[in-house]
Amino acid sequence: MNQEFRKKLGVDENKPNDWFENLYAVSNDSGDGVPWANMDAHPLFKNWIRDKPNVSREQTALVVGCGLGDDAIALENKGYKVTAFDVSESAIELCKERFPASKVNFIKADLLAGVPKWKEKFDFVLEIFTIQALPPKYEDTLIKNVANFVKPNGQLLIITEVQTPKRIYENGPPWLLNHNYKDSFEKLGLQLISNSISRETHIGEELHLSVFEKKS
Ligand SMILES: C[S@@+](CC[C@H](N)C(=O)[O-])C[C@H]1O[C@@H](n2cnc3c(N)ncnc32)[C@H](O)[C@@H]1O
Repeated sequence: MNQEFRKKLGVDENKPNDWFENLYAVSNDSGDGVPWANMDAHPLFKNWIRDKPNVSREQTALVVGCGLGDDAIALENKGYKVTAFDVSESAIELCKERFPASKVNFIKADLLAGVPKWKEKFDFVLEIFTIQALPPKYEDTLIKNVANFVKPNGQLLIITEVQTPKRIYENGPPWLLNHNYKDSFEKLGLQLISNSISRETHIGEELHLSVFEKKS
């Protein structure tokens, strides 16, 4: 993405959260103008969760950067008690508008700042395309804050695009991750238990679905 396009979107490396609210504030419950809104759970996540049994005892799930809320609803339909957050107040309002009967706790929160009260609170954490939506210089903080949410023995599912060339600000958004994101989570006590790659392009870009388990 070139500088002109970043400017048009209002992307600012030092205020990385702000442009999301600008997009959602002028959108609606059809997701107009939001480039990633497909008004459904992510297809890879939908496939992954389809064959899983409903959870039997009360289990908690957290959706990071929930956007318009469809992934949270997929988890609620499996029996999880779900919290789903986004930095954009307007995105959260649209989630509530779209799913008035849902018991999902849709709430505004900031992954960059972290949420100390959610430390190791969730059995299942889902992160789709949020780390890659923020500039590379925040990567370590974002990964640490996502890892923090997972209970010992809990699981983390990440869907992200990955590239071989080093991430640089001038190339995003999105800022595709490098392969070493898996090592970064492993260093924080999350063991990679599966990694499927569903798209590979000639320029070395891949789409990953990774599942980690937090050591107890
Ligand atoms: C590329 S979108 C992906 C949305 C959703 N996960 C999906 O797959 O459709 C990234 C989302 O992360 C949210 N986001 C960006 N920065 C955030 C932050 N610091 N804390 C929480 N959410 C954030 C954005 O508002 C946006 O909804």
